[in-house]
Amino acid sequence: MAQQPWWRNAVIYQVYVRSFADGNGDGAGDLIGLLEHLEYIASLGVDGVWLNPCYPSPQMDHGYDVSDYFDIEPAYGDLDIFDQLITRANKLGLRILMDVVPNHCSDQHAWFTEAVAAGRGSKERERFWFRDGQGVNGELPPNNWMAVFGGGAWSRITEPDGTSGQWFLHTFTPWQPDFNWLNDDVVDYFDRMLRFWFDRGVDGFRVDAVTVVGKHPDLPDAPSITGAVAETDAWAFNPYTVFWPSAHDAWRHWREVVNQYEIDHPGRELVTVSEAYTPGKPDLLLRYVEPDQFHQSFTFDLLLSPWNALSLHKAAARSYQALHDAGATLTWALNNHDAHRVVTRYGRADAHLTSSWTGSNLVNSDAPVDLELGHRRARAAALLILGLPGAAYLYMGEELGLPEVLEIPDSARQDPIFARTEGREKGRDGCRVPMSWTTDSVNLNGFSTSSSAKAWMPQPEGWGSFSVEVQDYDCKSMLALYRQALSFRVDMVKQGEAIEFVGDGTDGLFSFTRGSYAVVVNTSAEAVEIPHEIMVGRKLILGSLPEAFSRVDESSLIAGNSAVWLG
Ligand code: NOJ
Repeated sequence: MAQQPWWRNAVIYQVYVRSFADGNGDGAGDLIGLLEHLEYIASLGVDGVWLNPCYPSPQMDHGYDVSDYFDIEPAYGDLDIFDQLITRANKLGLRILMDVVPNHCSDQHAWFTEAVAAGRGSKERERFWFRDGQGVNGELPPNNWMAVFGGGAWSRITEPDGTSGQWFLHTFTPWQPDFNWLNDDVVDYFDRMLRFWFDRGVDGFRVDAVTVVGKHPDLPDAPSITGAVAETDAWAFNPYTVFWPSAHDAWRHWREVVNQYEIDHPGRELVTVSEAYTPGKPDLLLRYVEPDQFHQSFTFDLLLSPWNALSLHKAAARSYQALHDAGATLTWALNNHDAHRVVTRYGRADAHLTSSWTGSNLVNSDAPVDLELGHRRARAAALLILGLPGAAYLYMGEELGLPEVLEIPDSARQDPIFARTEGREKGRDGCRVPMSWTTDSVNLNGFSTSSSAKAWMPQPEGWGSFSVEVQDYDCKSMLALYRQALSFRVDMVKQGEAIEFVGDGTDGLFSFTRGSYAVVVNTSAEAVEIPHEIMVGRKLILGSLPEAFSRVDESSLIAGNSAVWLG
């Protein structure tokens, strides 16, 4: 069998730089902090690290508002430290992936300020979506499009002569103007950007918000929405940008750039992974991983599934069938910097119900949370995604079982979603609370090198109890489970990428076989007997709970809310 590219079954550890480790004592994470904790990441047994955007940025959306794609945010470090990071990471066997934001930049990006200054009809404005407003004096937005983070998708500028002028399109916030991908300057700019970072040793990119990059060139009004839809979900019903096909021309072009780079630099094997939410629509997901587009695209269906075997089975099976049959790889995640952390999601009293989800990645439930139950289920889910074929992305702190921090004072909230919806939606700060390294609250549980730093987002009371220090030598800890699973996964991957689902989840079990291995997840509260066809000839390799070990061997029973690997 031909050697598979490294990324095909890779495990990537996602680092939200701002929240990982503060090396300069200012209360926010940075590259020095990351550099000093690379050994820890390597100790998990992962293949690479994905860095959330760390380019210069006014931080209105914490780096997803880039003002210069060719440099490092000064508060995080500089290009020299970045180069040291790559060298050190590579020595430890870790690849570095960056995050590229093609849909929009910051309103402080030189191109945008130049566009405002250059005036109507200029070639500078062609790089964005500037339009005259409607109404007698152009006082109404050019169309009815809604922004992802609340409010309308258009803002009006003041022209250089001081008059109210044209409007510009921003799919997210007014601080993030959308690029016009029909413009050649934009295409060339990103070609240069990709090569610039590949030249520095970056092995790939996570590509932000790919589904909204295309736009109908005439920008027609979106059809009106029937039925009740949350304010921050309205944008998703706009067919003139969401999944608008012209974006795929850009992705095909990027693949050519990447392929050419590999030809010109023998030995380099690069990866691009697209962020496209396509819940329940594997045919749409498939379009992003056609052989001439992205190498991977997140399979978010599991992240968006409630905790019940029927739904998990459906989510995994439909993605698997579509992608595996087409020869594409699956790319799983349970967490990321936009979603409520899995421990809290699964700990909710209504975690098993589809109605507890909005269909987007924000939780629509304020049911009480049982964290112990959430942890138990999250441990099982870890064995699930690490047992499935394909790549897995872990979000920092997931291996510690960090919960979502729900009690953040409004005055401390920083996610633009909170401000743009005037507090109606709390936003994503709760999954971005700085890491817990030690029990020493003086230096923010080991997060900061300074004993007087104030964390950019406050850590709650007792955060140290989840710390690496507490879990490192505890063989029953979540951290120990992740390390064990990642080490046993090497053999799991050797079983190949073909799996067979057993049952459909109605008995509370989500099960599949993979070569001589099998994975069984029991989402019900009660112990359930593992079907004979799975059990026969197999014994326990790894269980999500210490107490599940003996029970499965002796009686084929799998404990409630747990998972096992058999082989
Ligand atoms: C998706 C990113 O994951 C999110 O954090 C960001 O706010 C938006 N795209 C806008 O770039």
